[in-house]
Amino acid sequence: MKKIKISPSILSADFSKLSEDIKRLEHGGADMIHVDVMDGHFVPNLTIGPPVIKSLRKHTKLPFDVHLMINPVHKYIKDYSDAGADIITFHPEATENIMETINLIKTSNKKVGISLNPNTEIKIIYDYLDKIDLVLIMSVYPGFGGQKFINAVIEKIKKLDEIRKDRKLNFQIEIDGGINFETAKIAIDAGVDILVSGTTIFKENNGDLKKNIKILKQI
Ligand code: DX5
Ligand code: ZN
Repeated sequence: MKKIKISPSILSADFSKLSEDIKRLEHGGADMIHVDVMDGHFVPNLTIGPPVIKSLRKHTKLPFDVHLMINPVHKYIKDYSDAGADIITFHPEATENIMETINLIKTSNKKVGISLNPNTEIKIIYDYLDKIDLVLIMSVYPGFGGQKFINAVIEKIKKLDEIRKDRKLNFQIEIDGGINFETAKIAIDAGVDILVSGTTIFKENNGDLKKNIKILKQI
């Protein structure tokens, strides 16, 4: 059985004690920390930026899986890299030149992810799949936690997994939005390697992070 990685989204954490929540996630068995960066422009919500990421960096050894929902994204890559991101994921609509943004992230020695919104087609990134480390499939429209999983993205995951096998590529498939104990199984069966989860991890079983992470890993 494939080993599934869990990337809890701190969008559902208590922002007044982020460092404590991150430590609890680490002790609870998280593989990385998903950081949702929103600019109130690319998506209709605002969250945190490089200074907060930088100050959190010293509180965990886990990789920071930074999901940039900002436009324009290119000119801010260095700031997120310097702040301590390990994986930097951007949306193709937010850059004028996808290849240049990939190269900039690589030059900073960070892993590169590209995120596809529910209505963004795979063909947009087809030419880049051999150059990136991760494809982040959005299973909700980005902007808010707690939304309902969009089933139609399952076909996209299956297609990506097929392309990956056919072309013998190594990128990971991560899914983000509406993941619960049922939708996680559907996503994993379709080919997902990494589950992002905010609401389920922070709210199910009275917020028992360790238990919720364990359940997601055993699905
Ligand atoms: C949505 C964010 C997600 C979100 C997931 O724009 O990218 O990471 O926090 O939250 P849940 O798990 O609550 O759907
Ligand atoms: Zn996200």
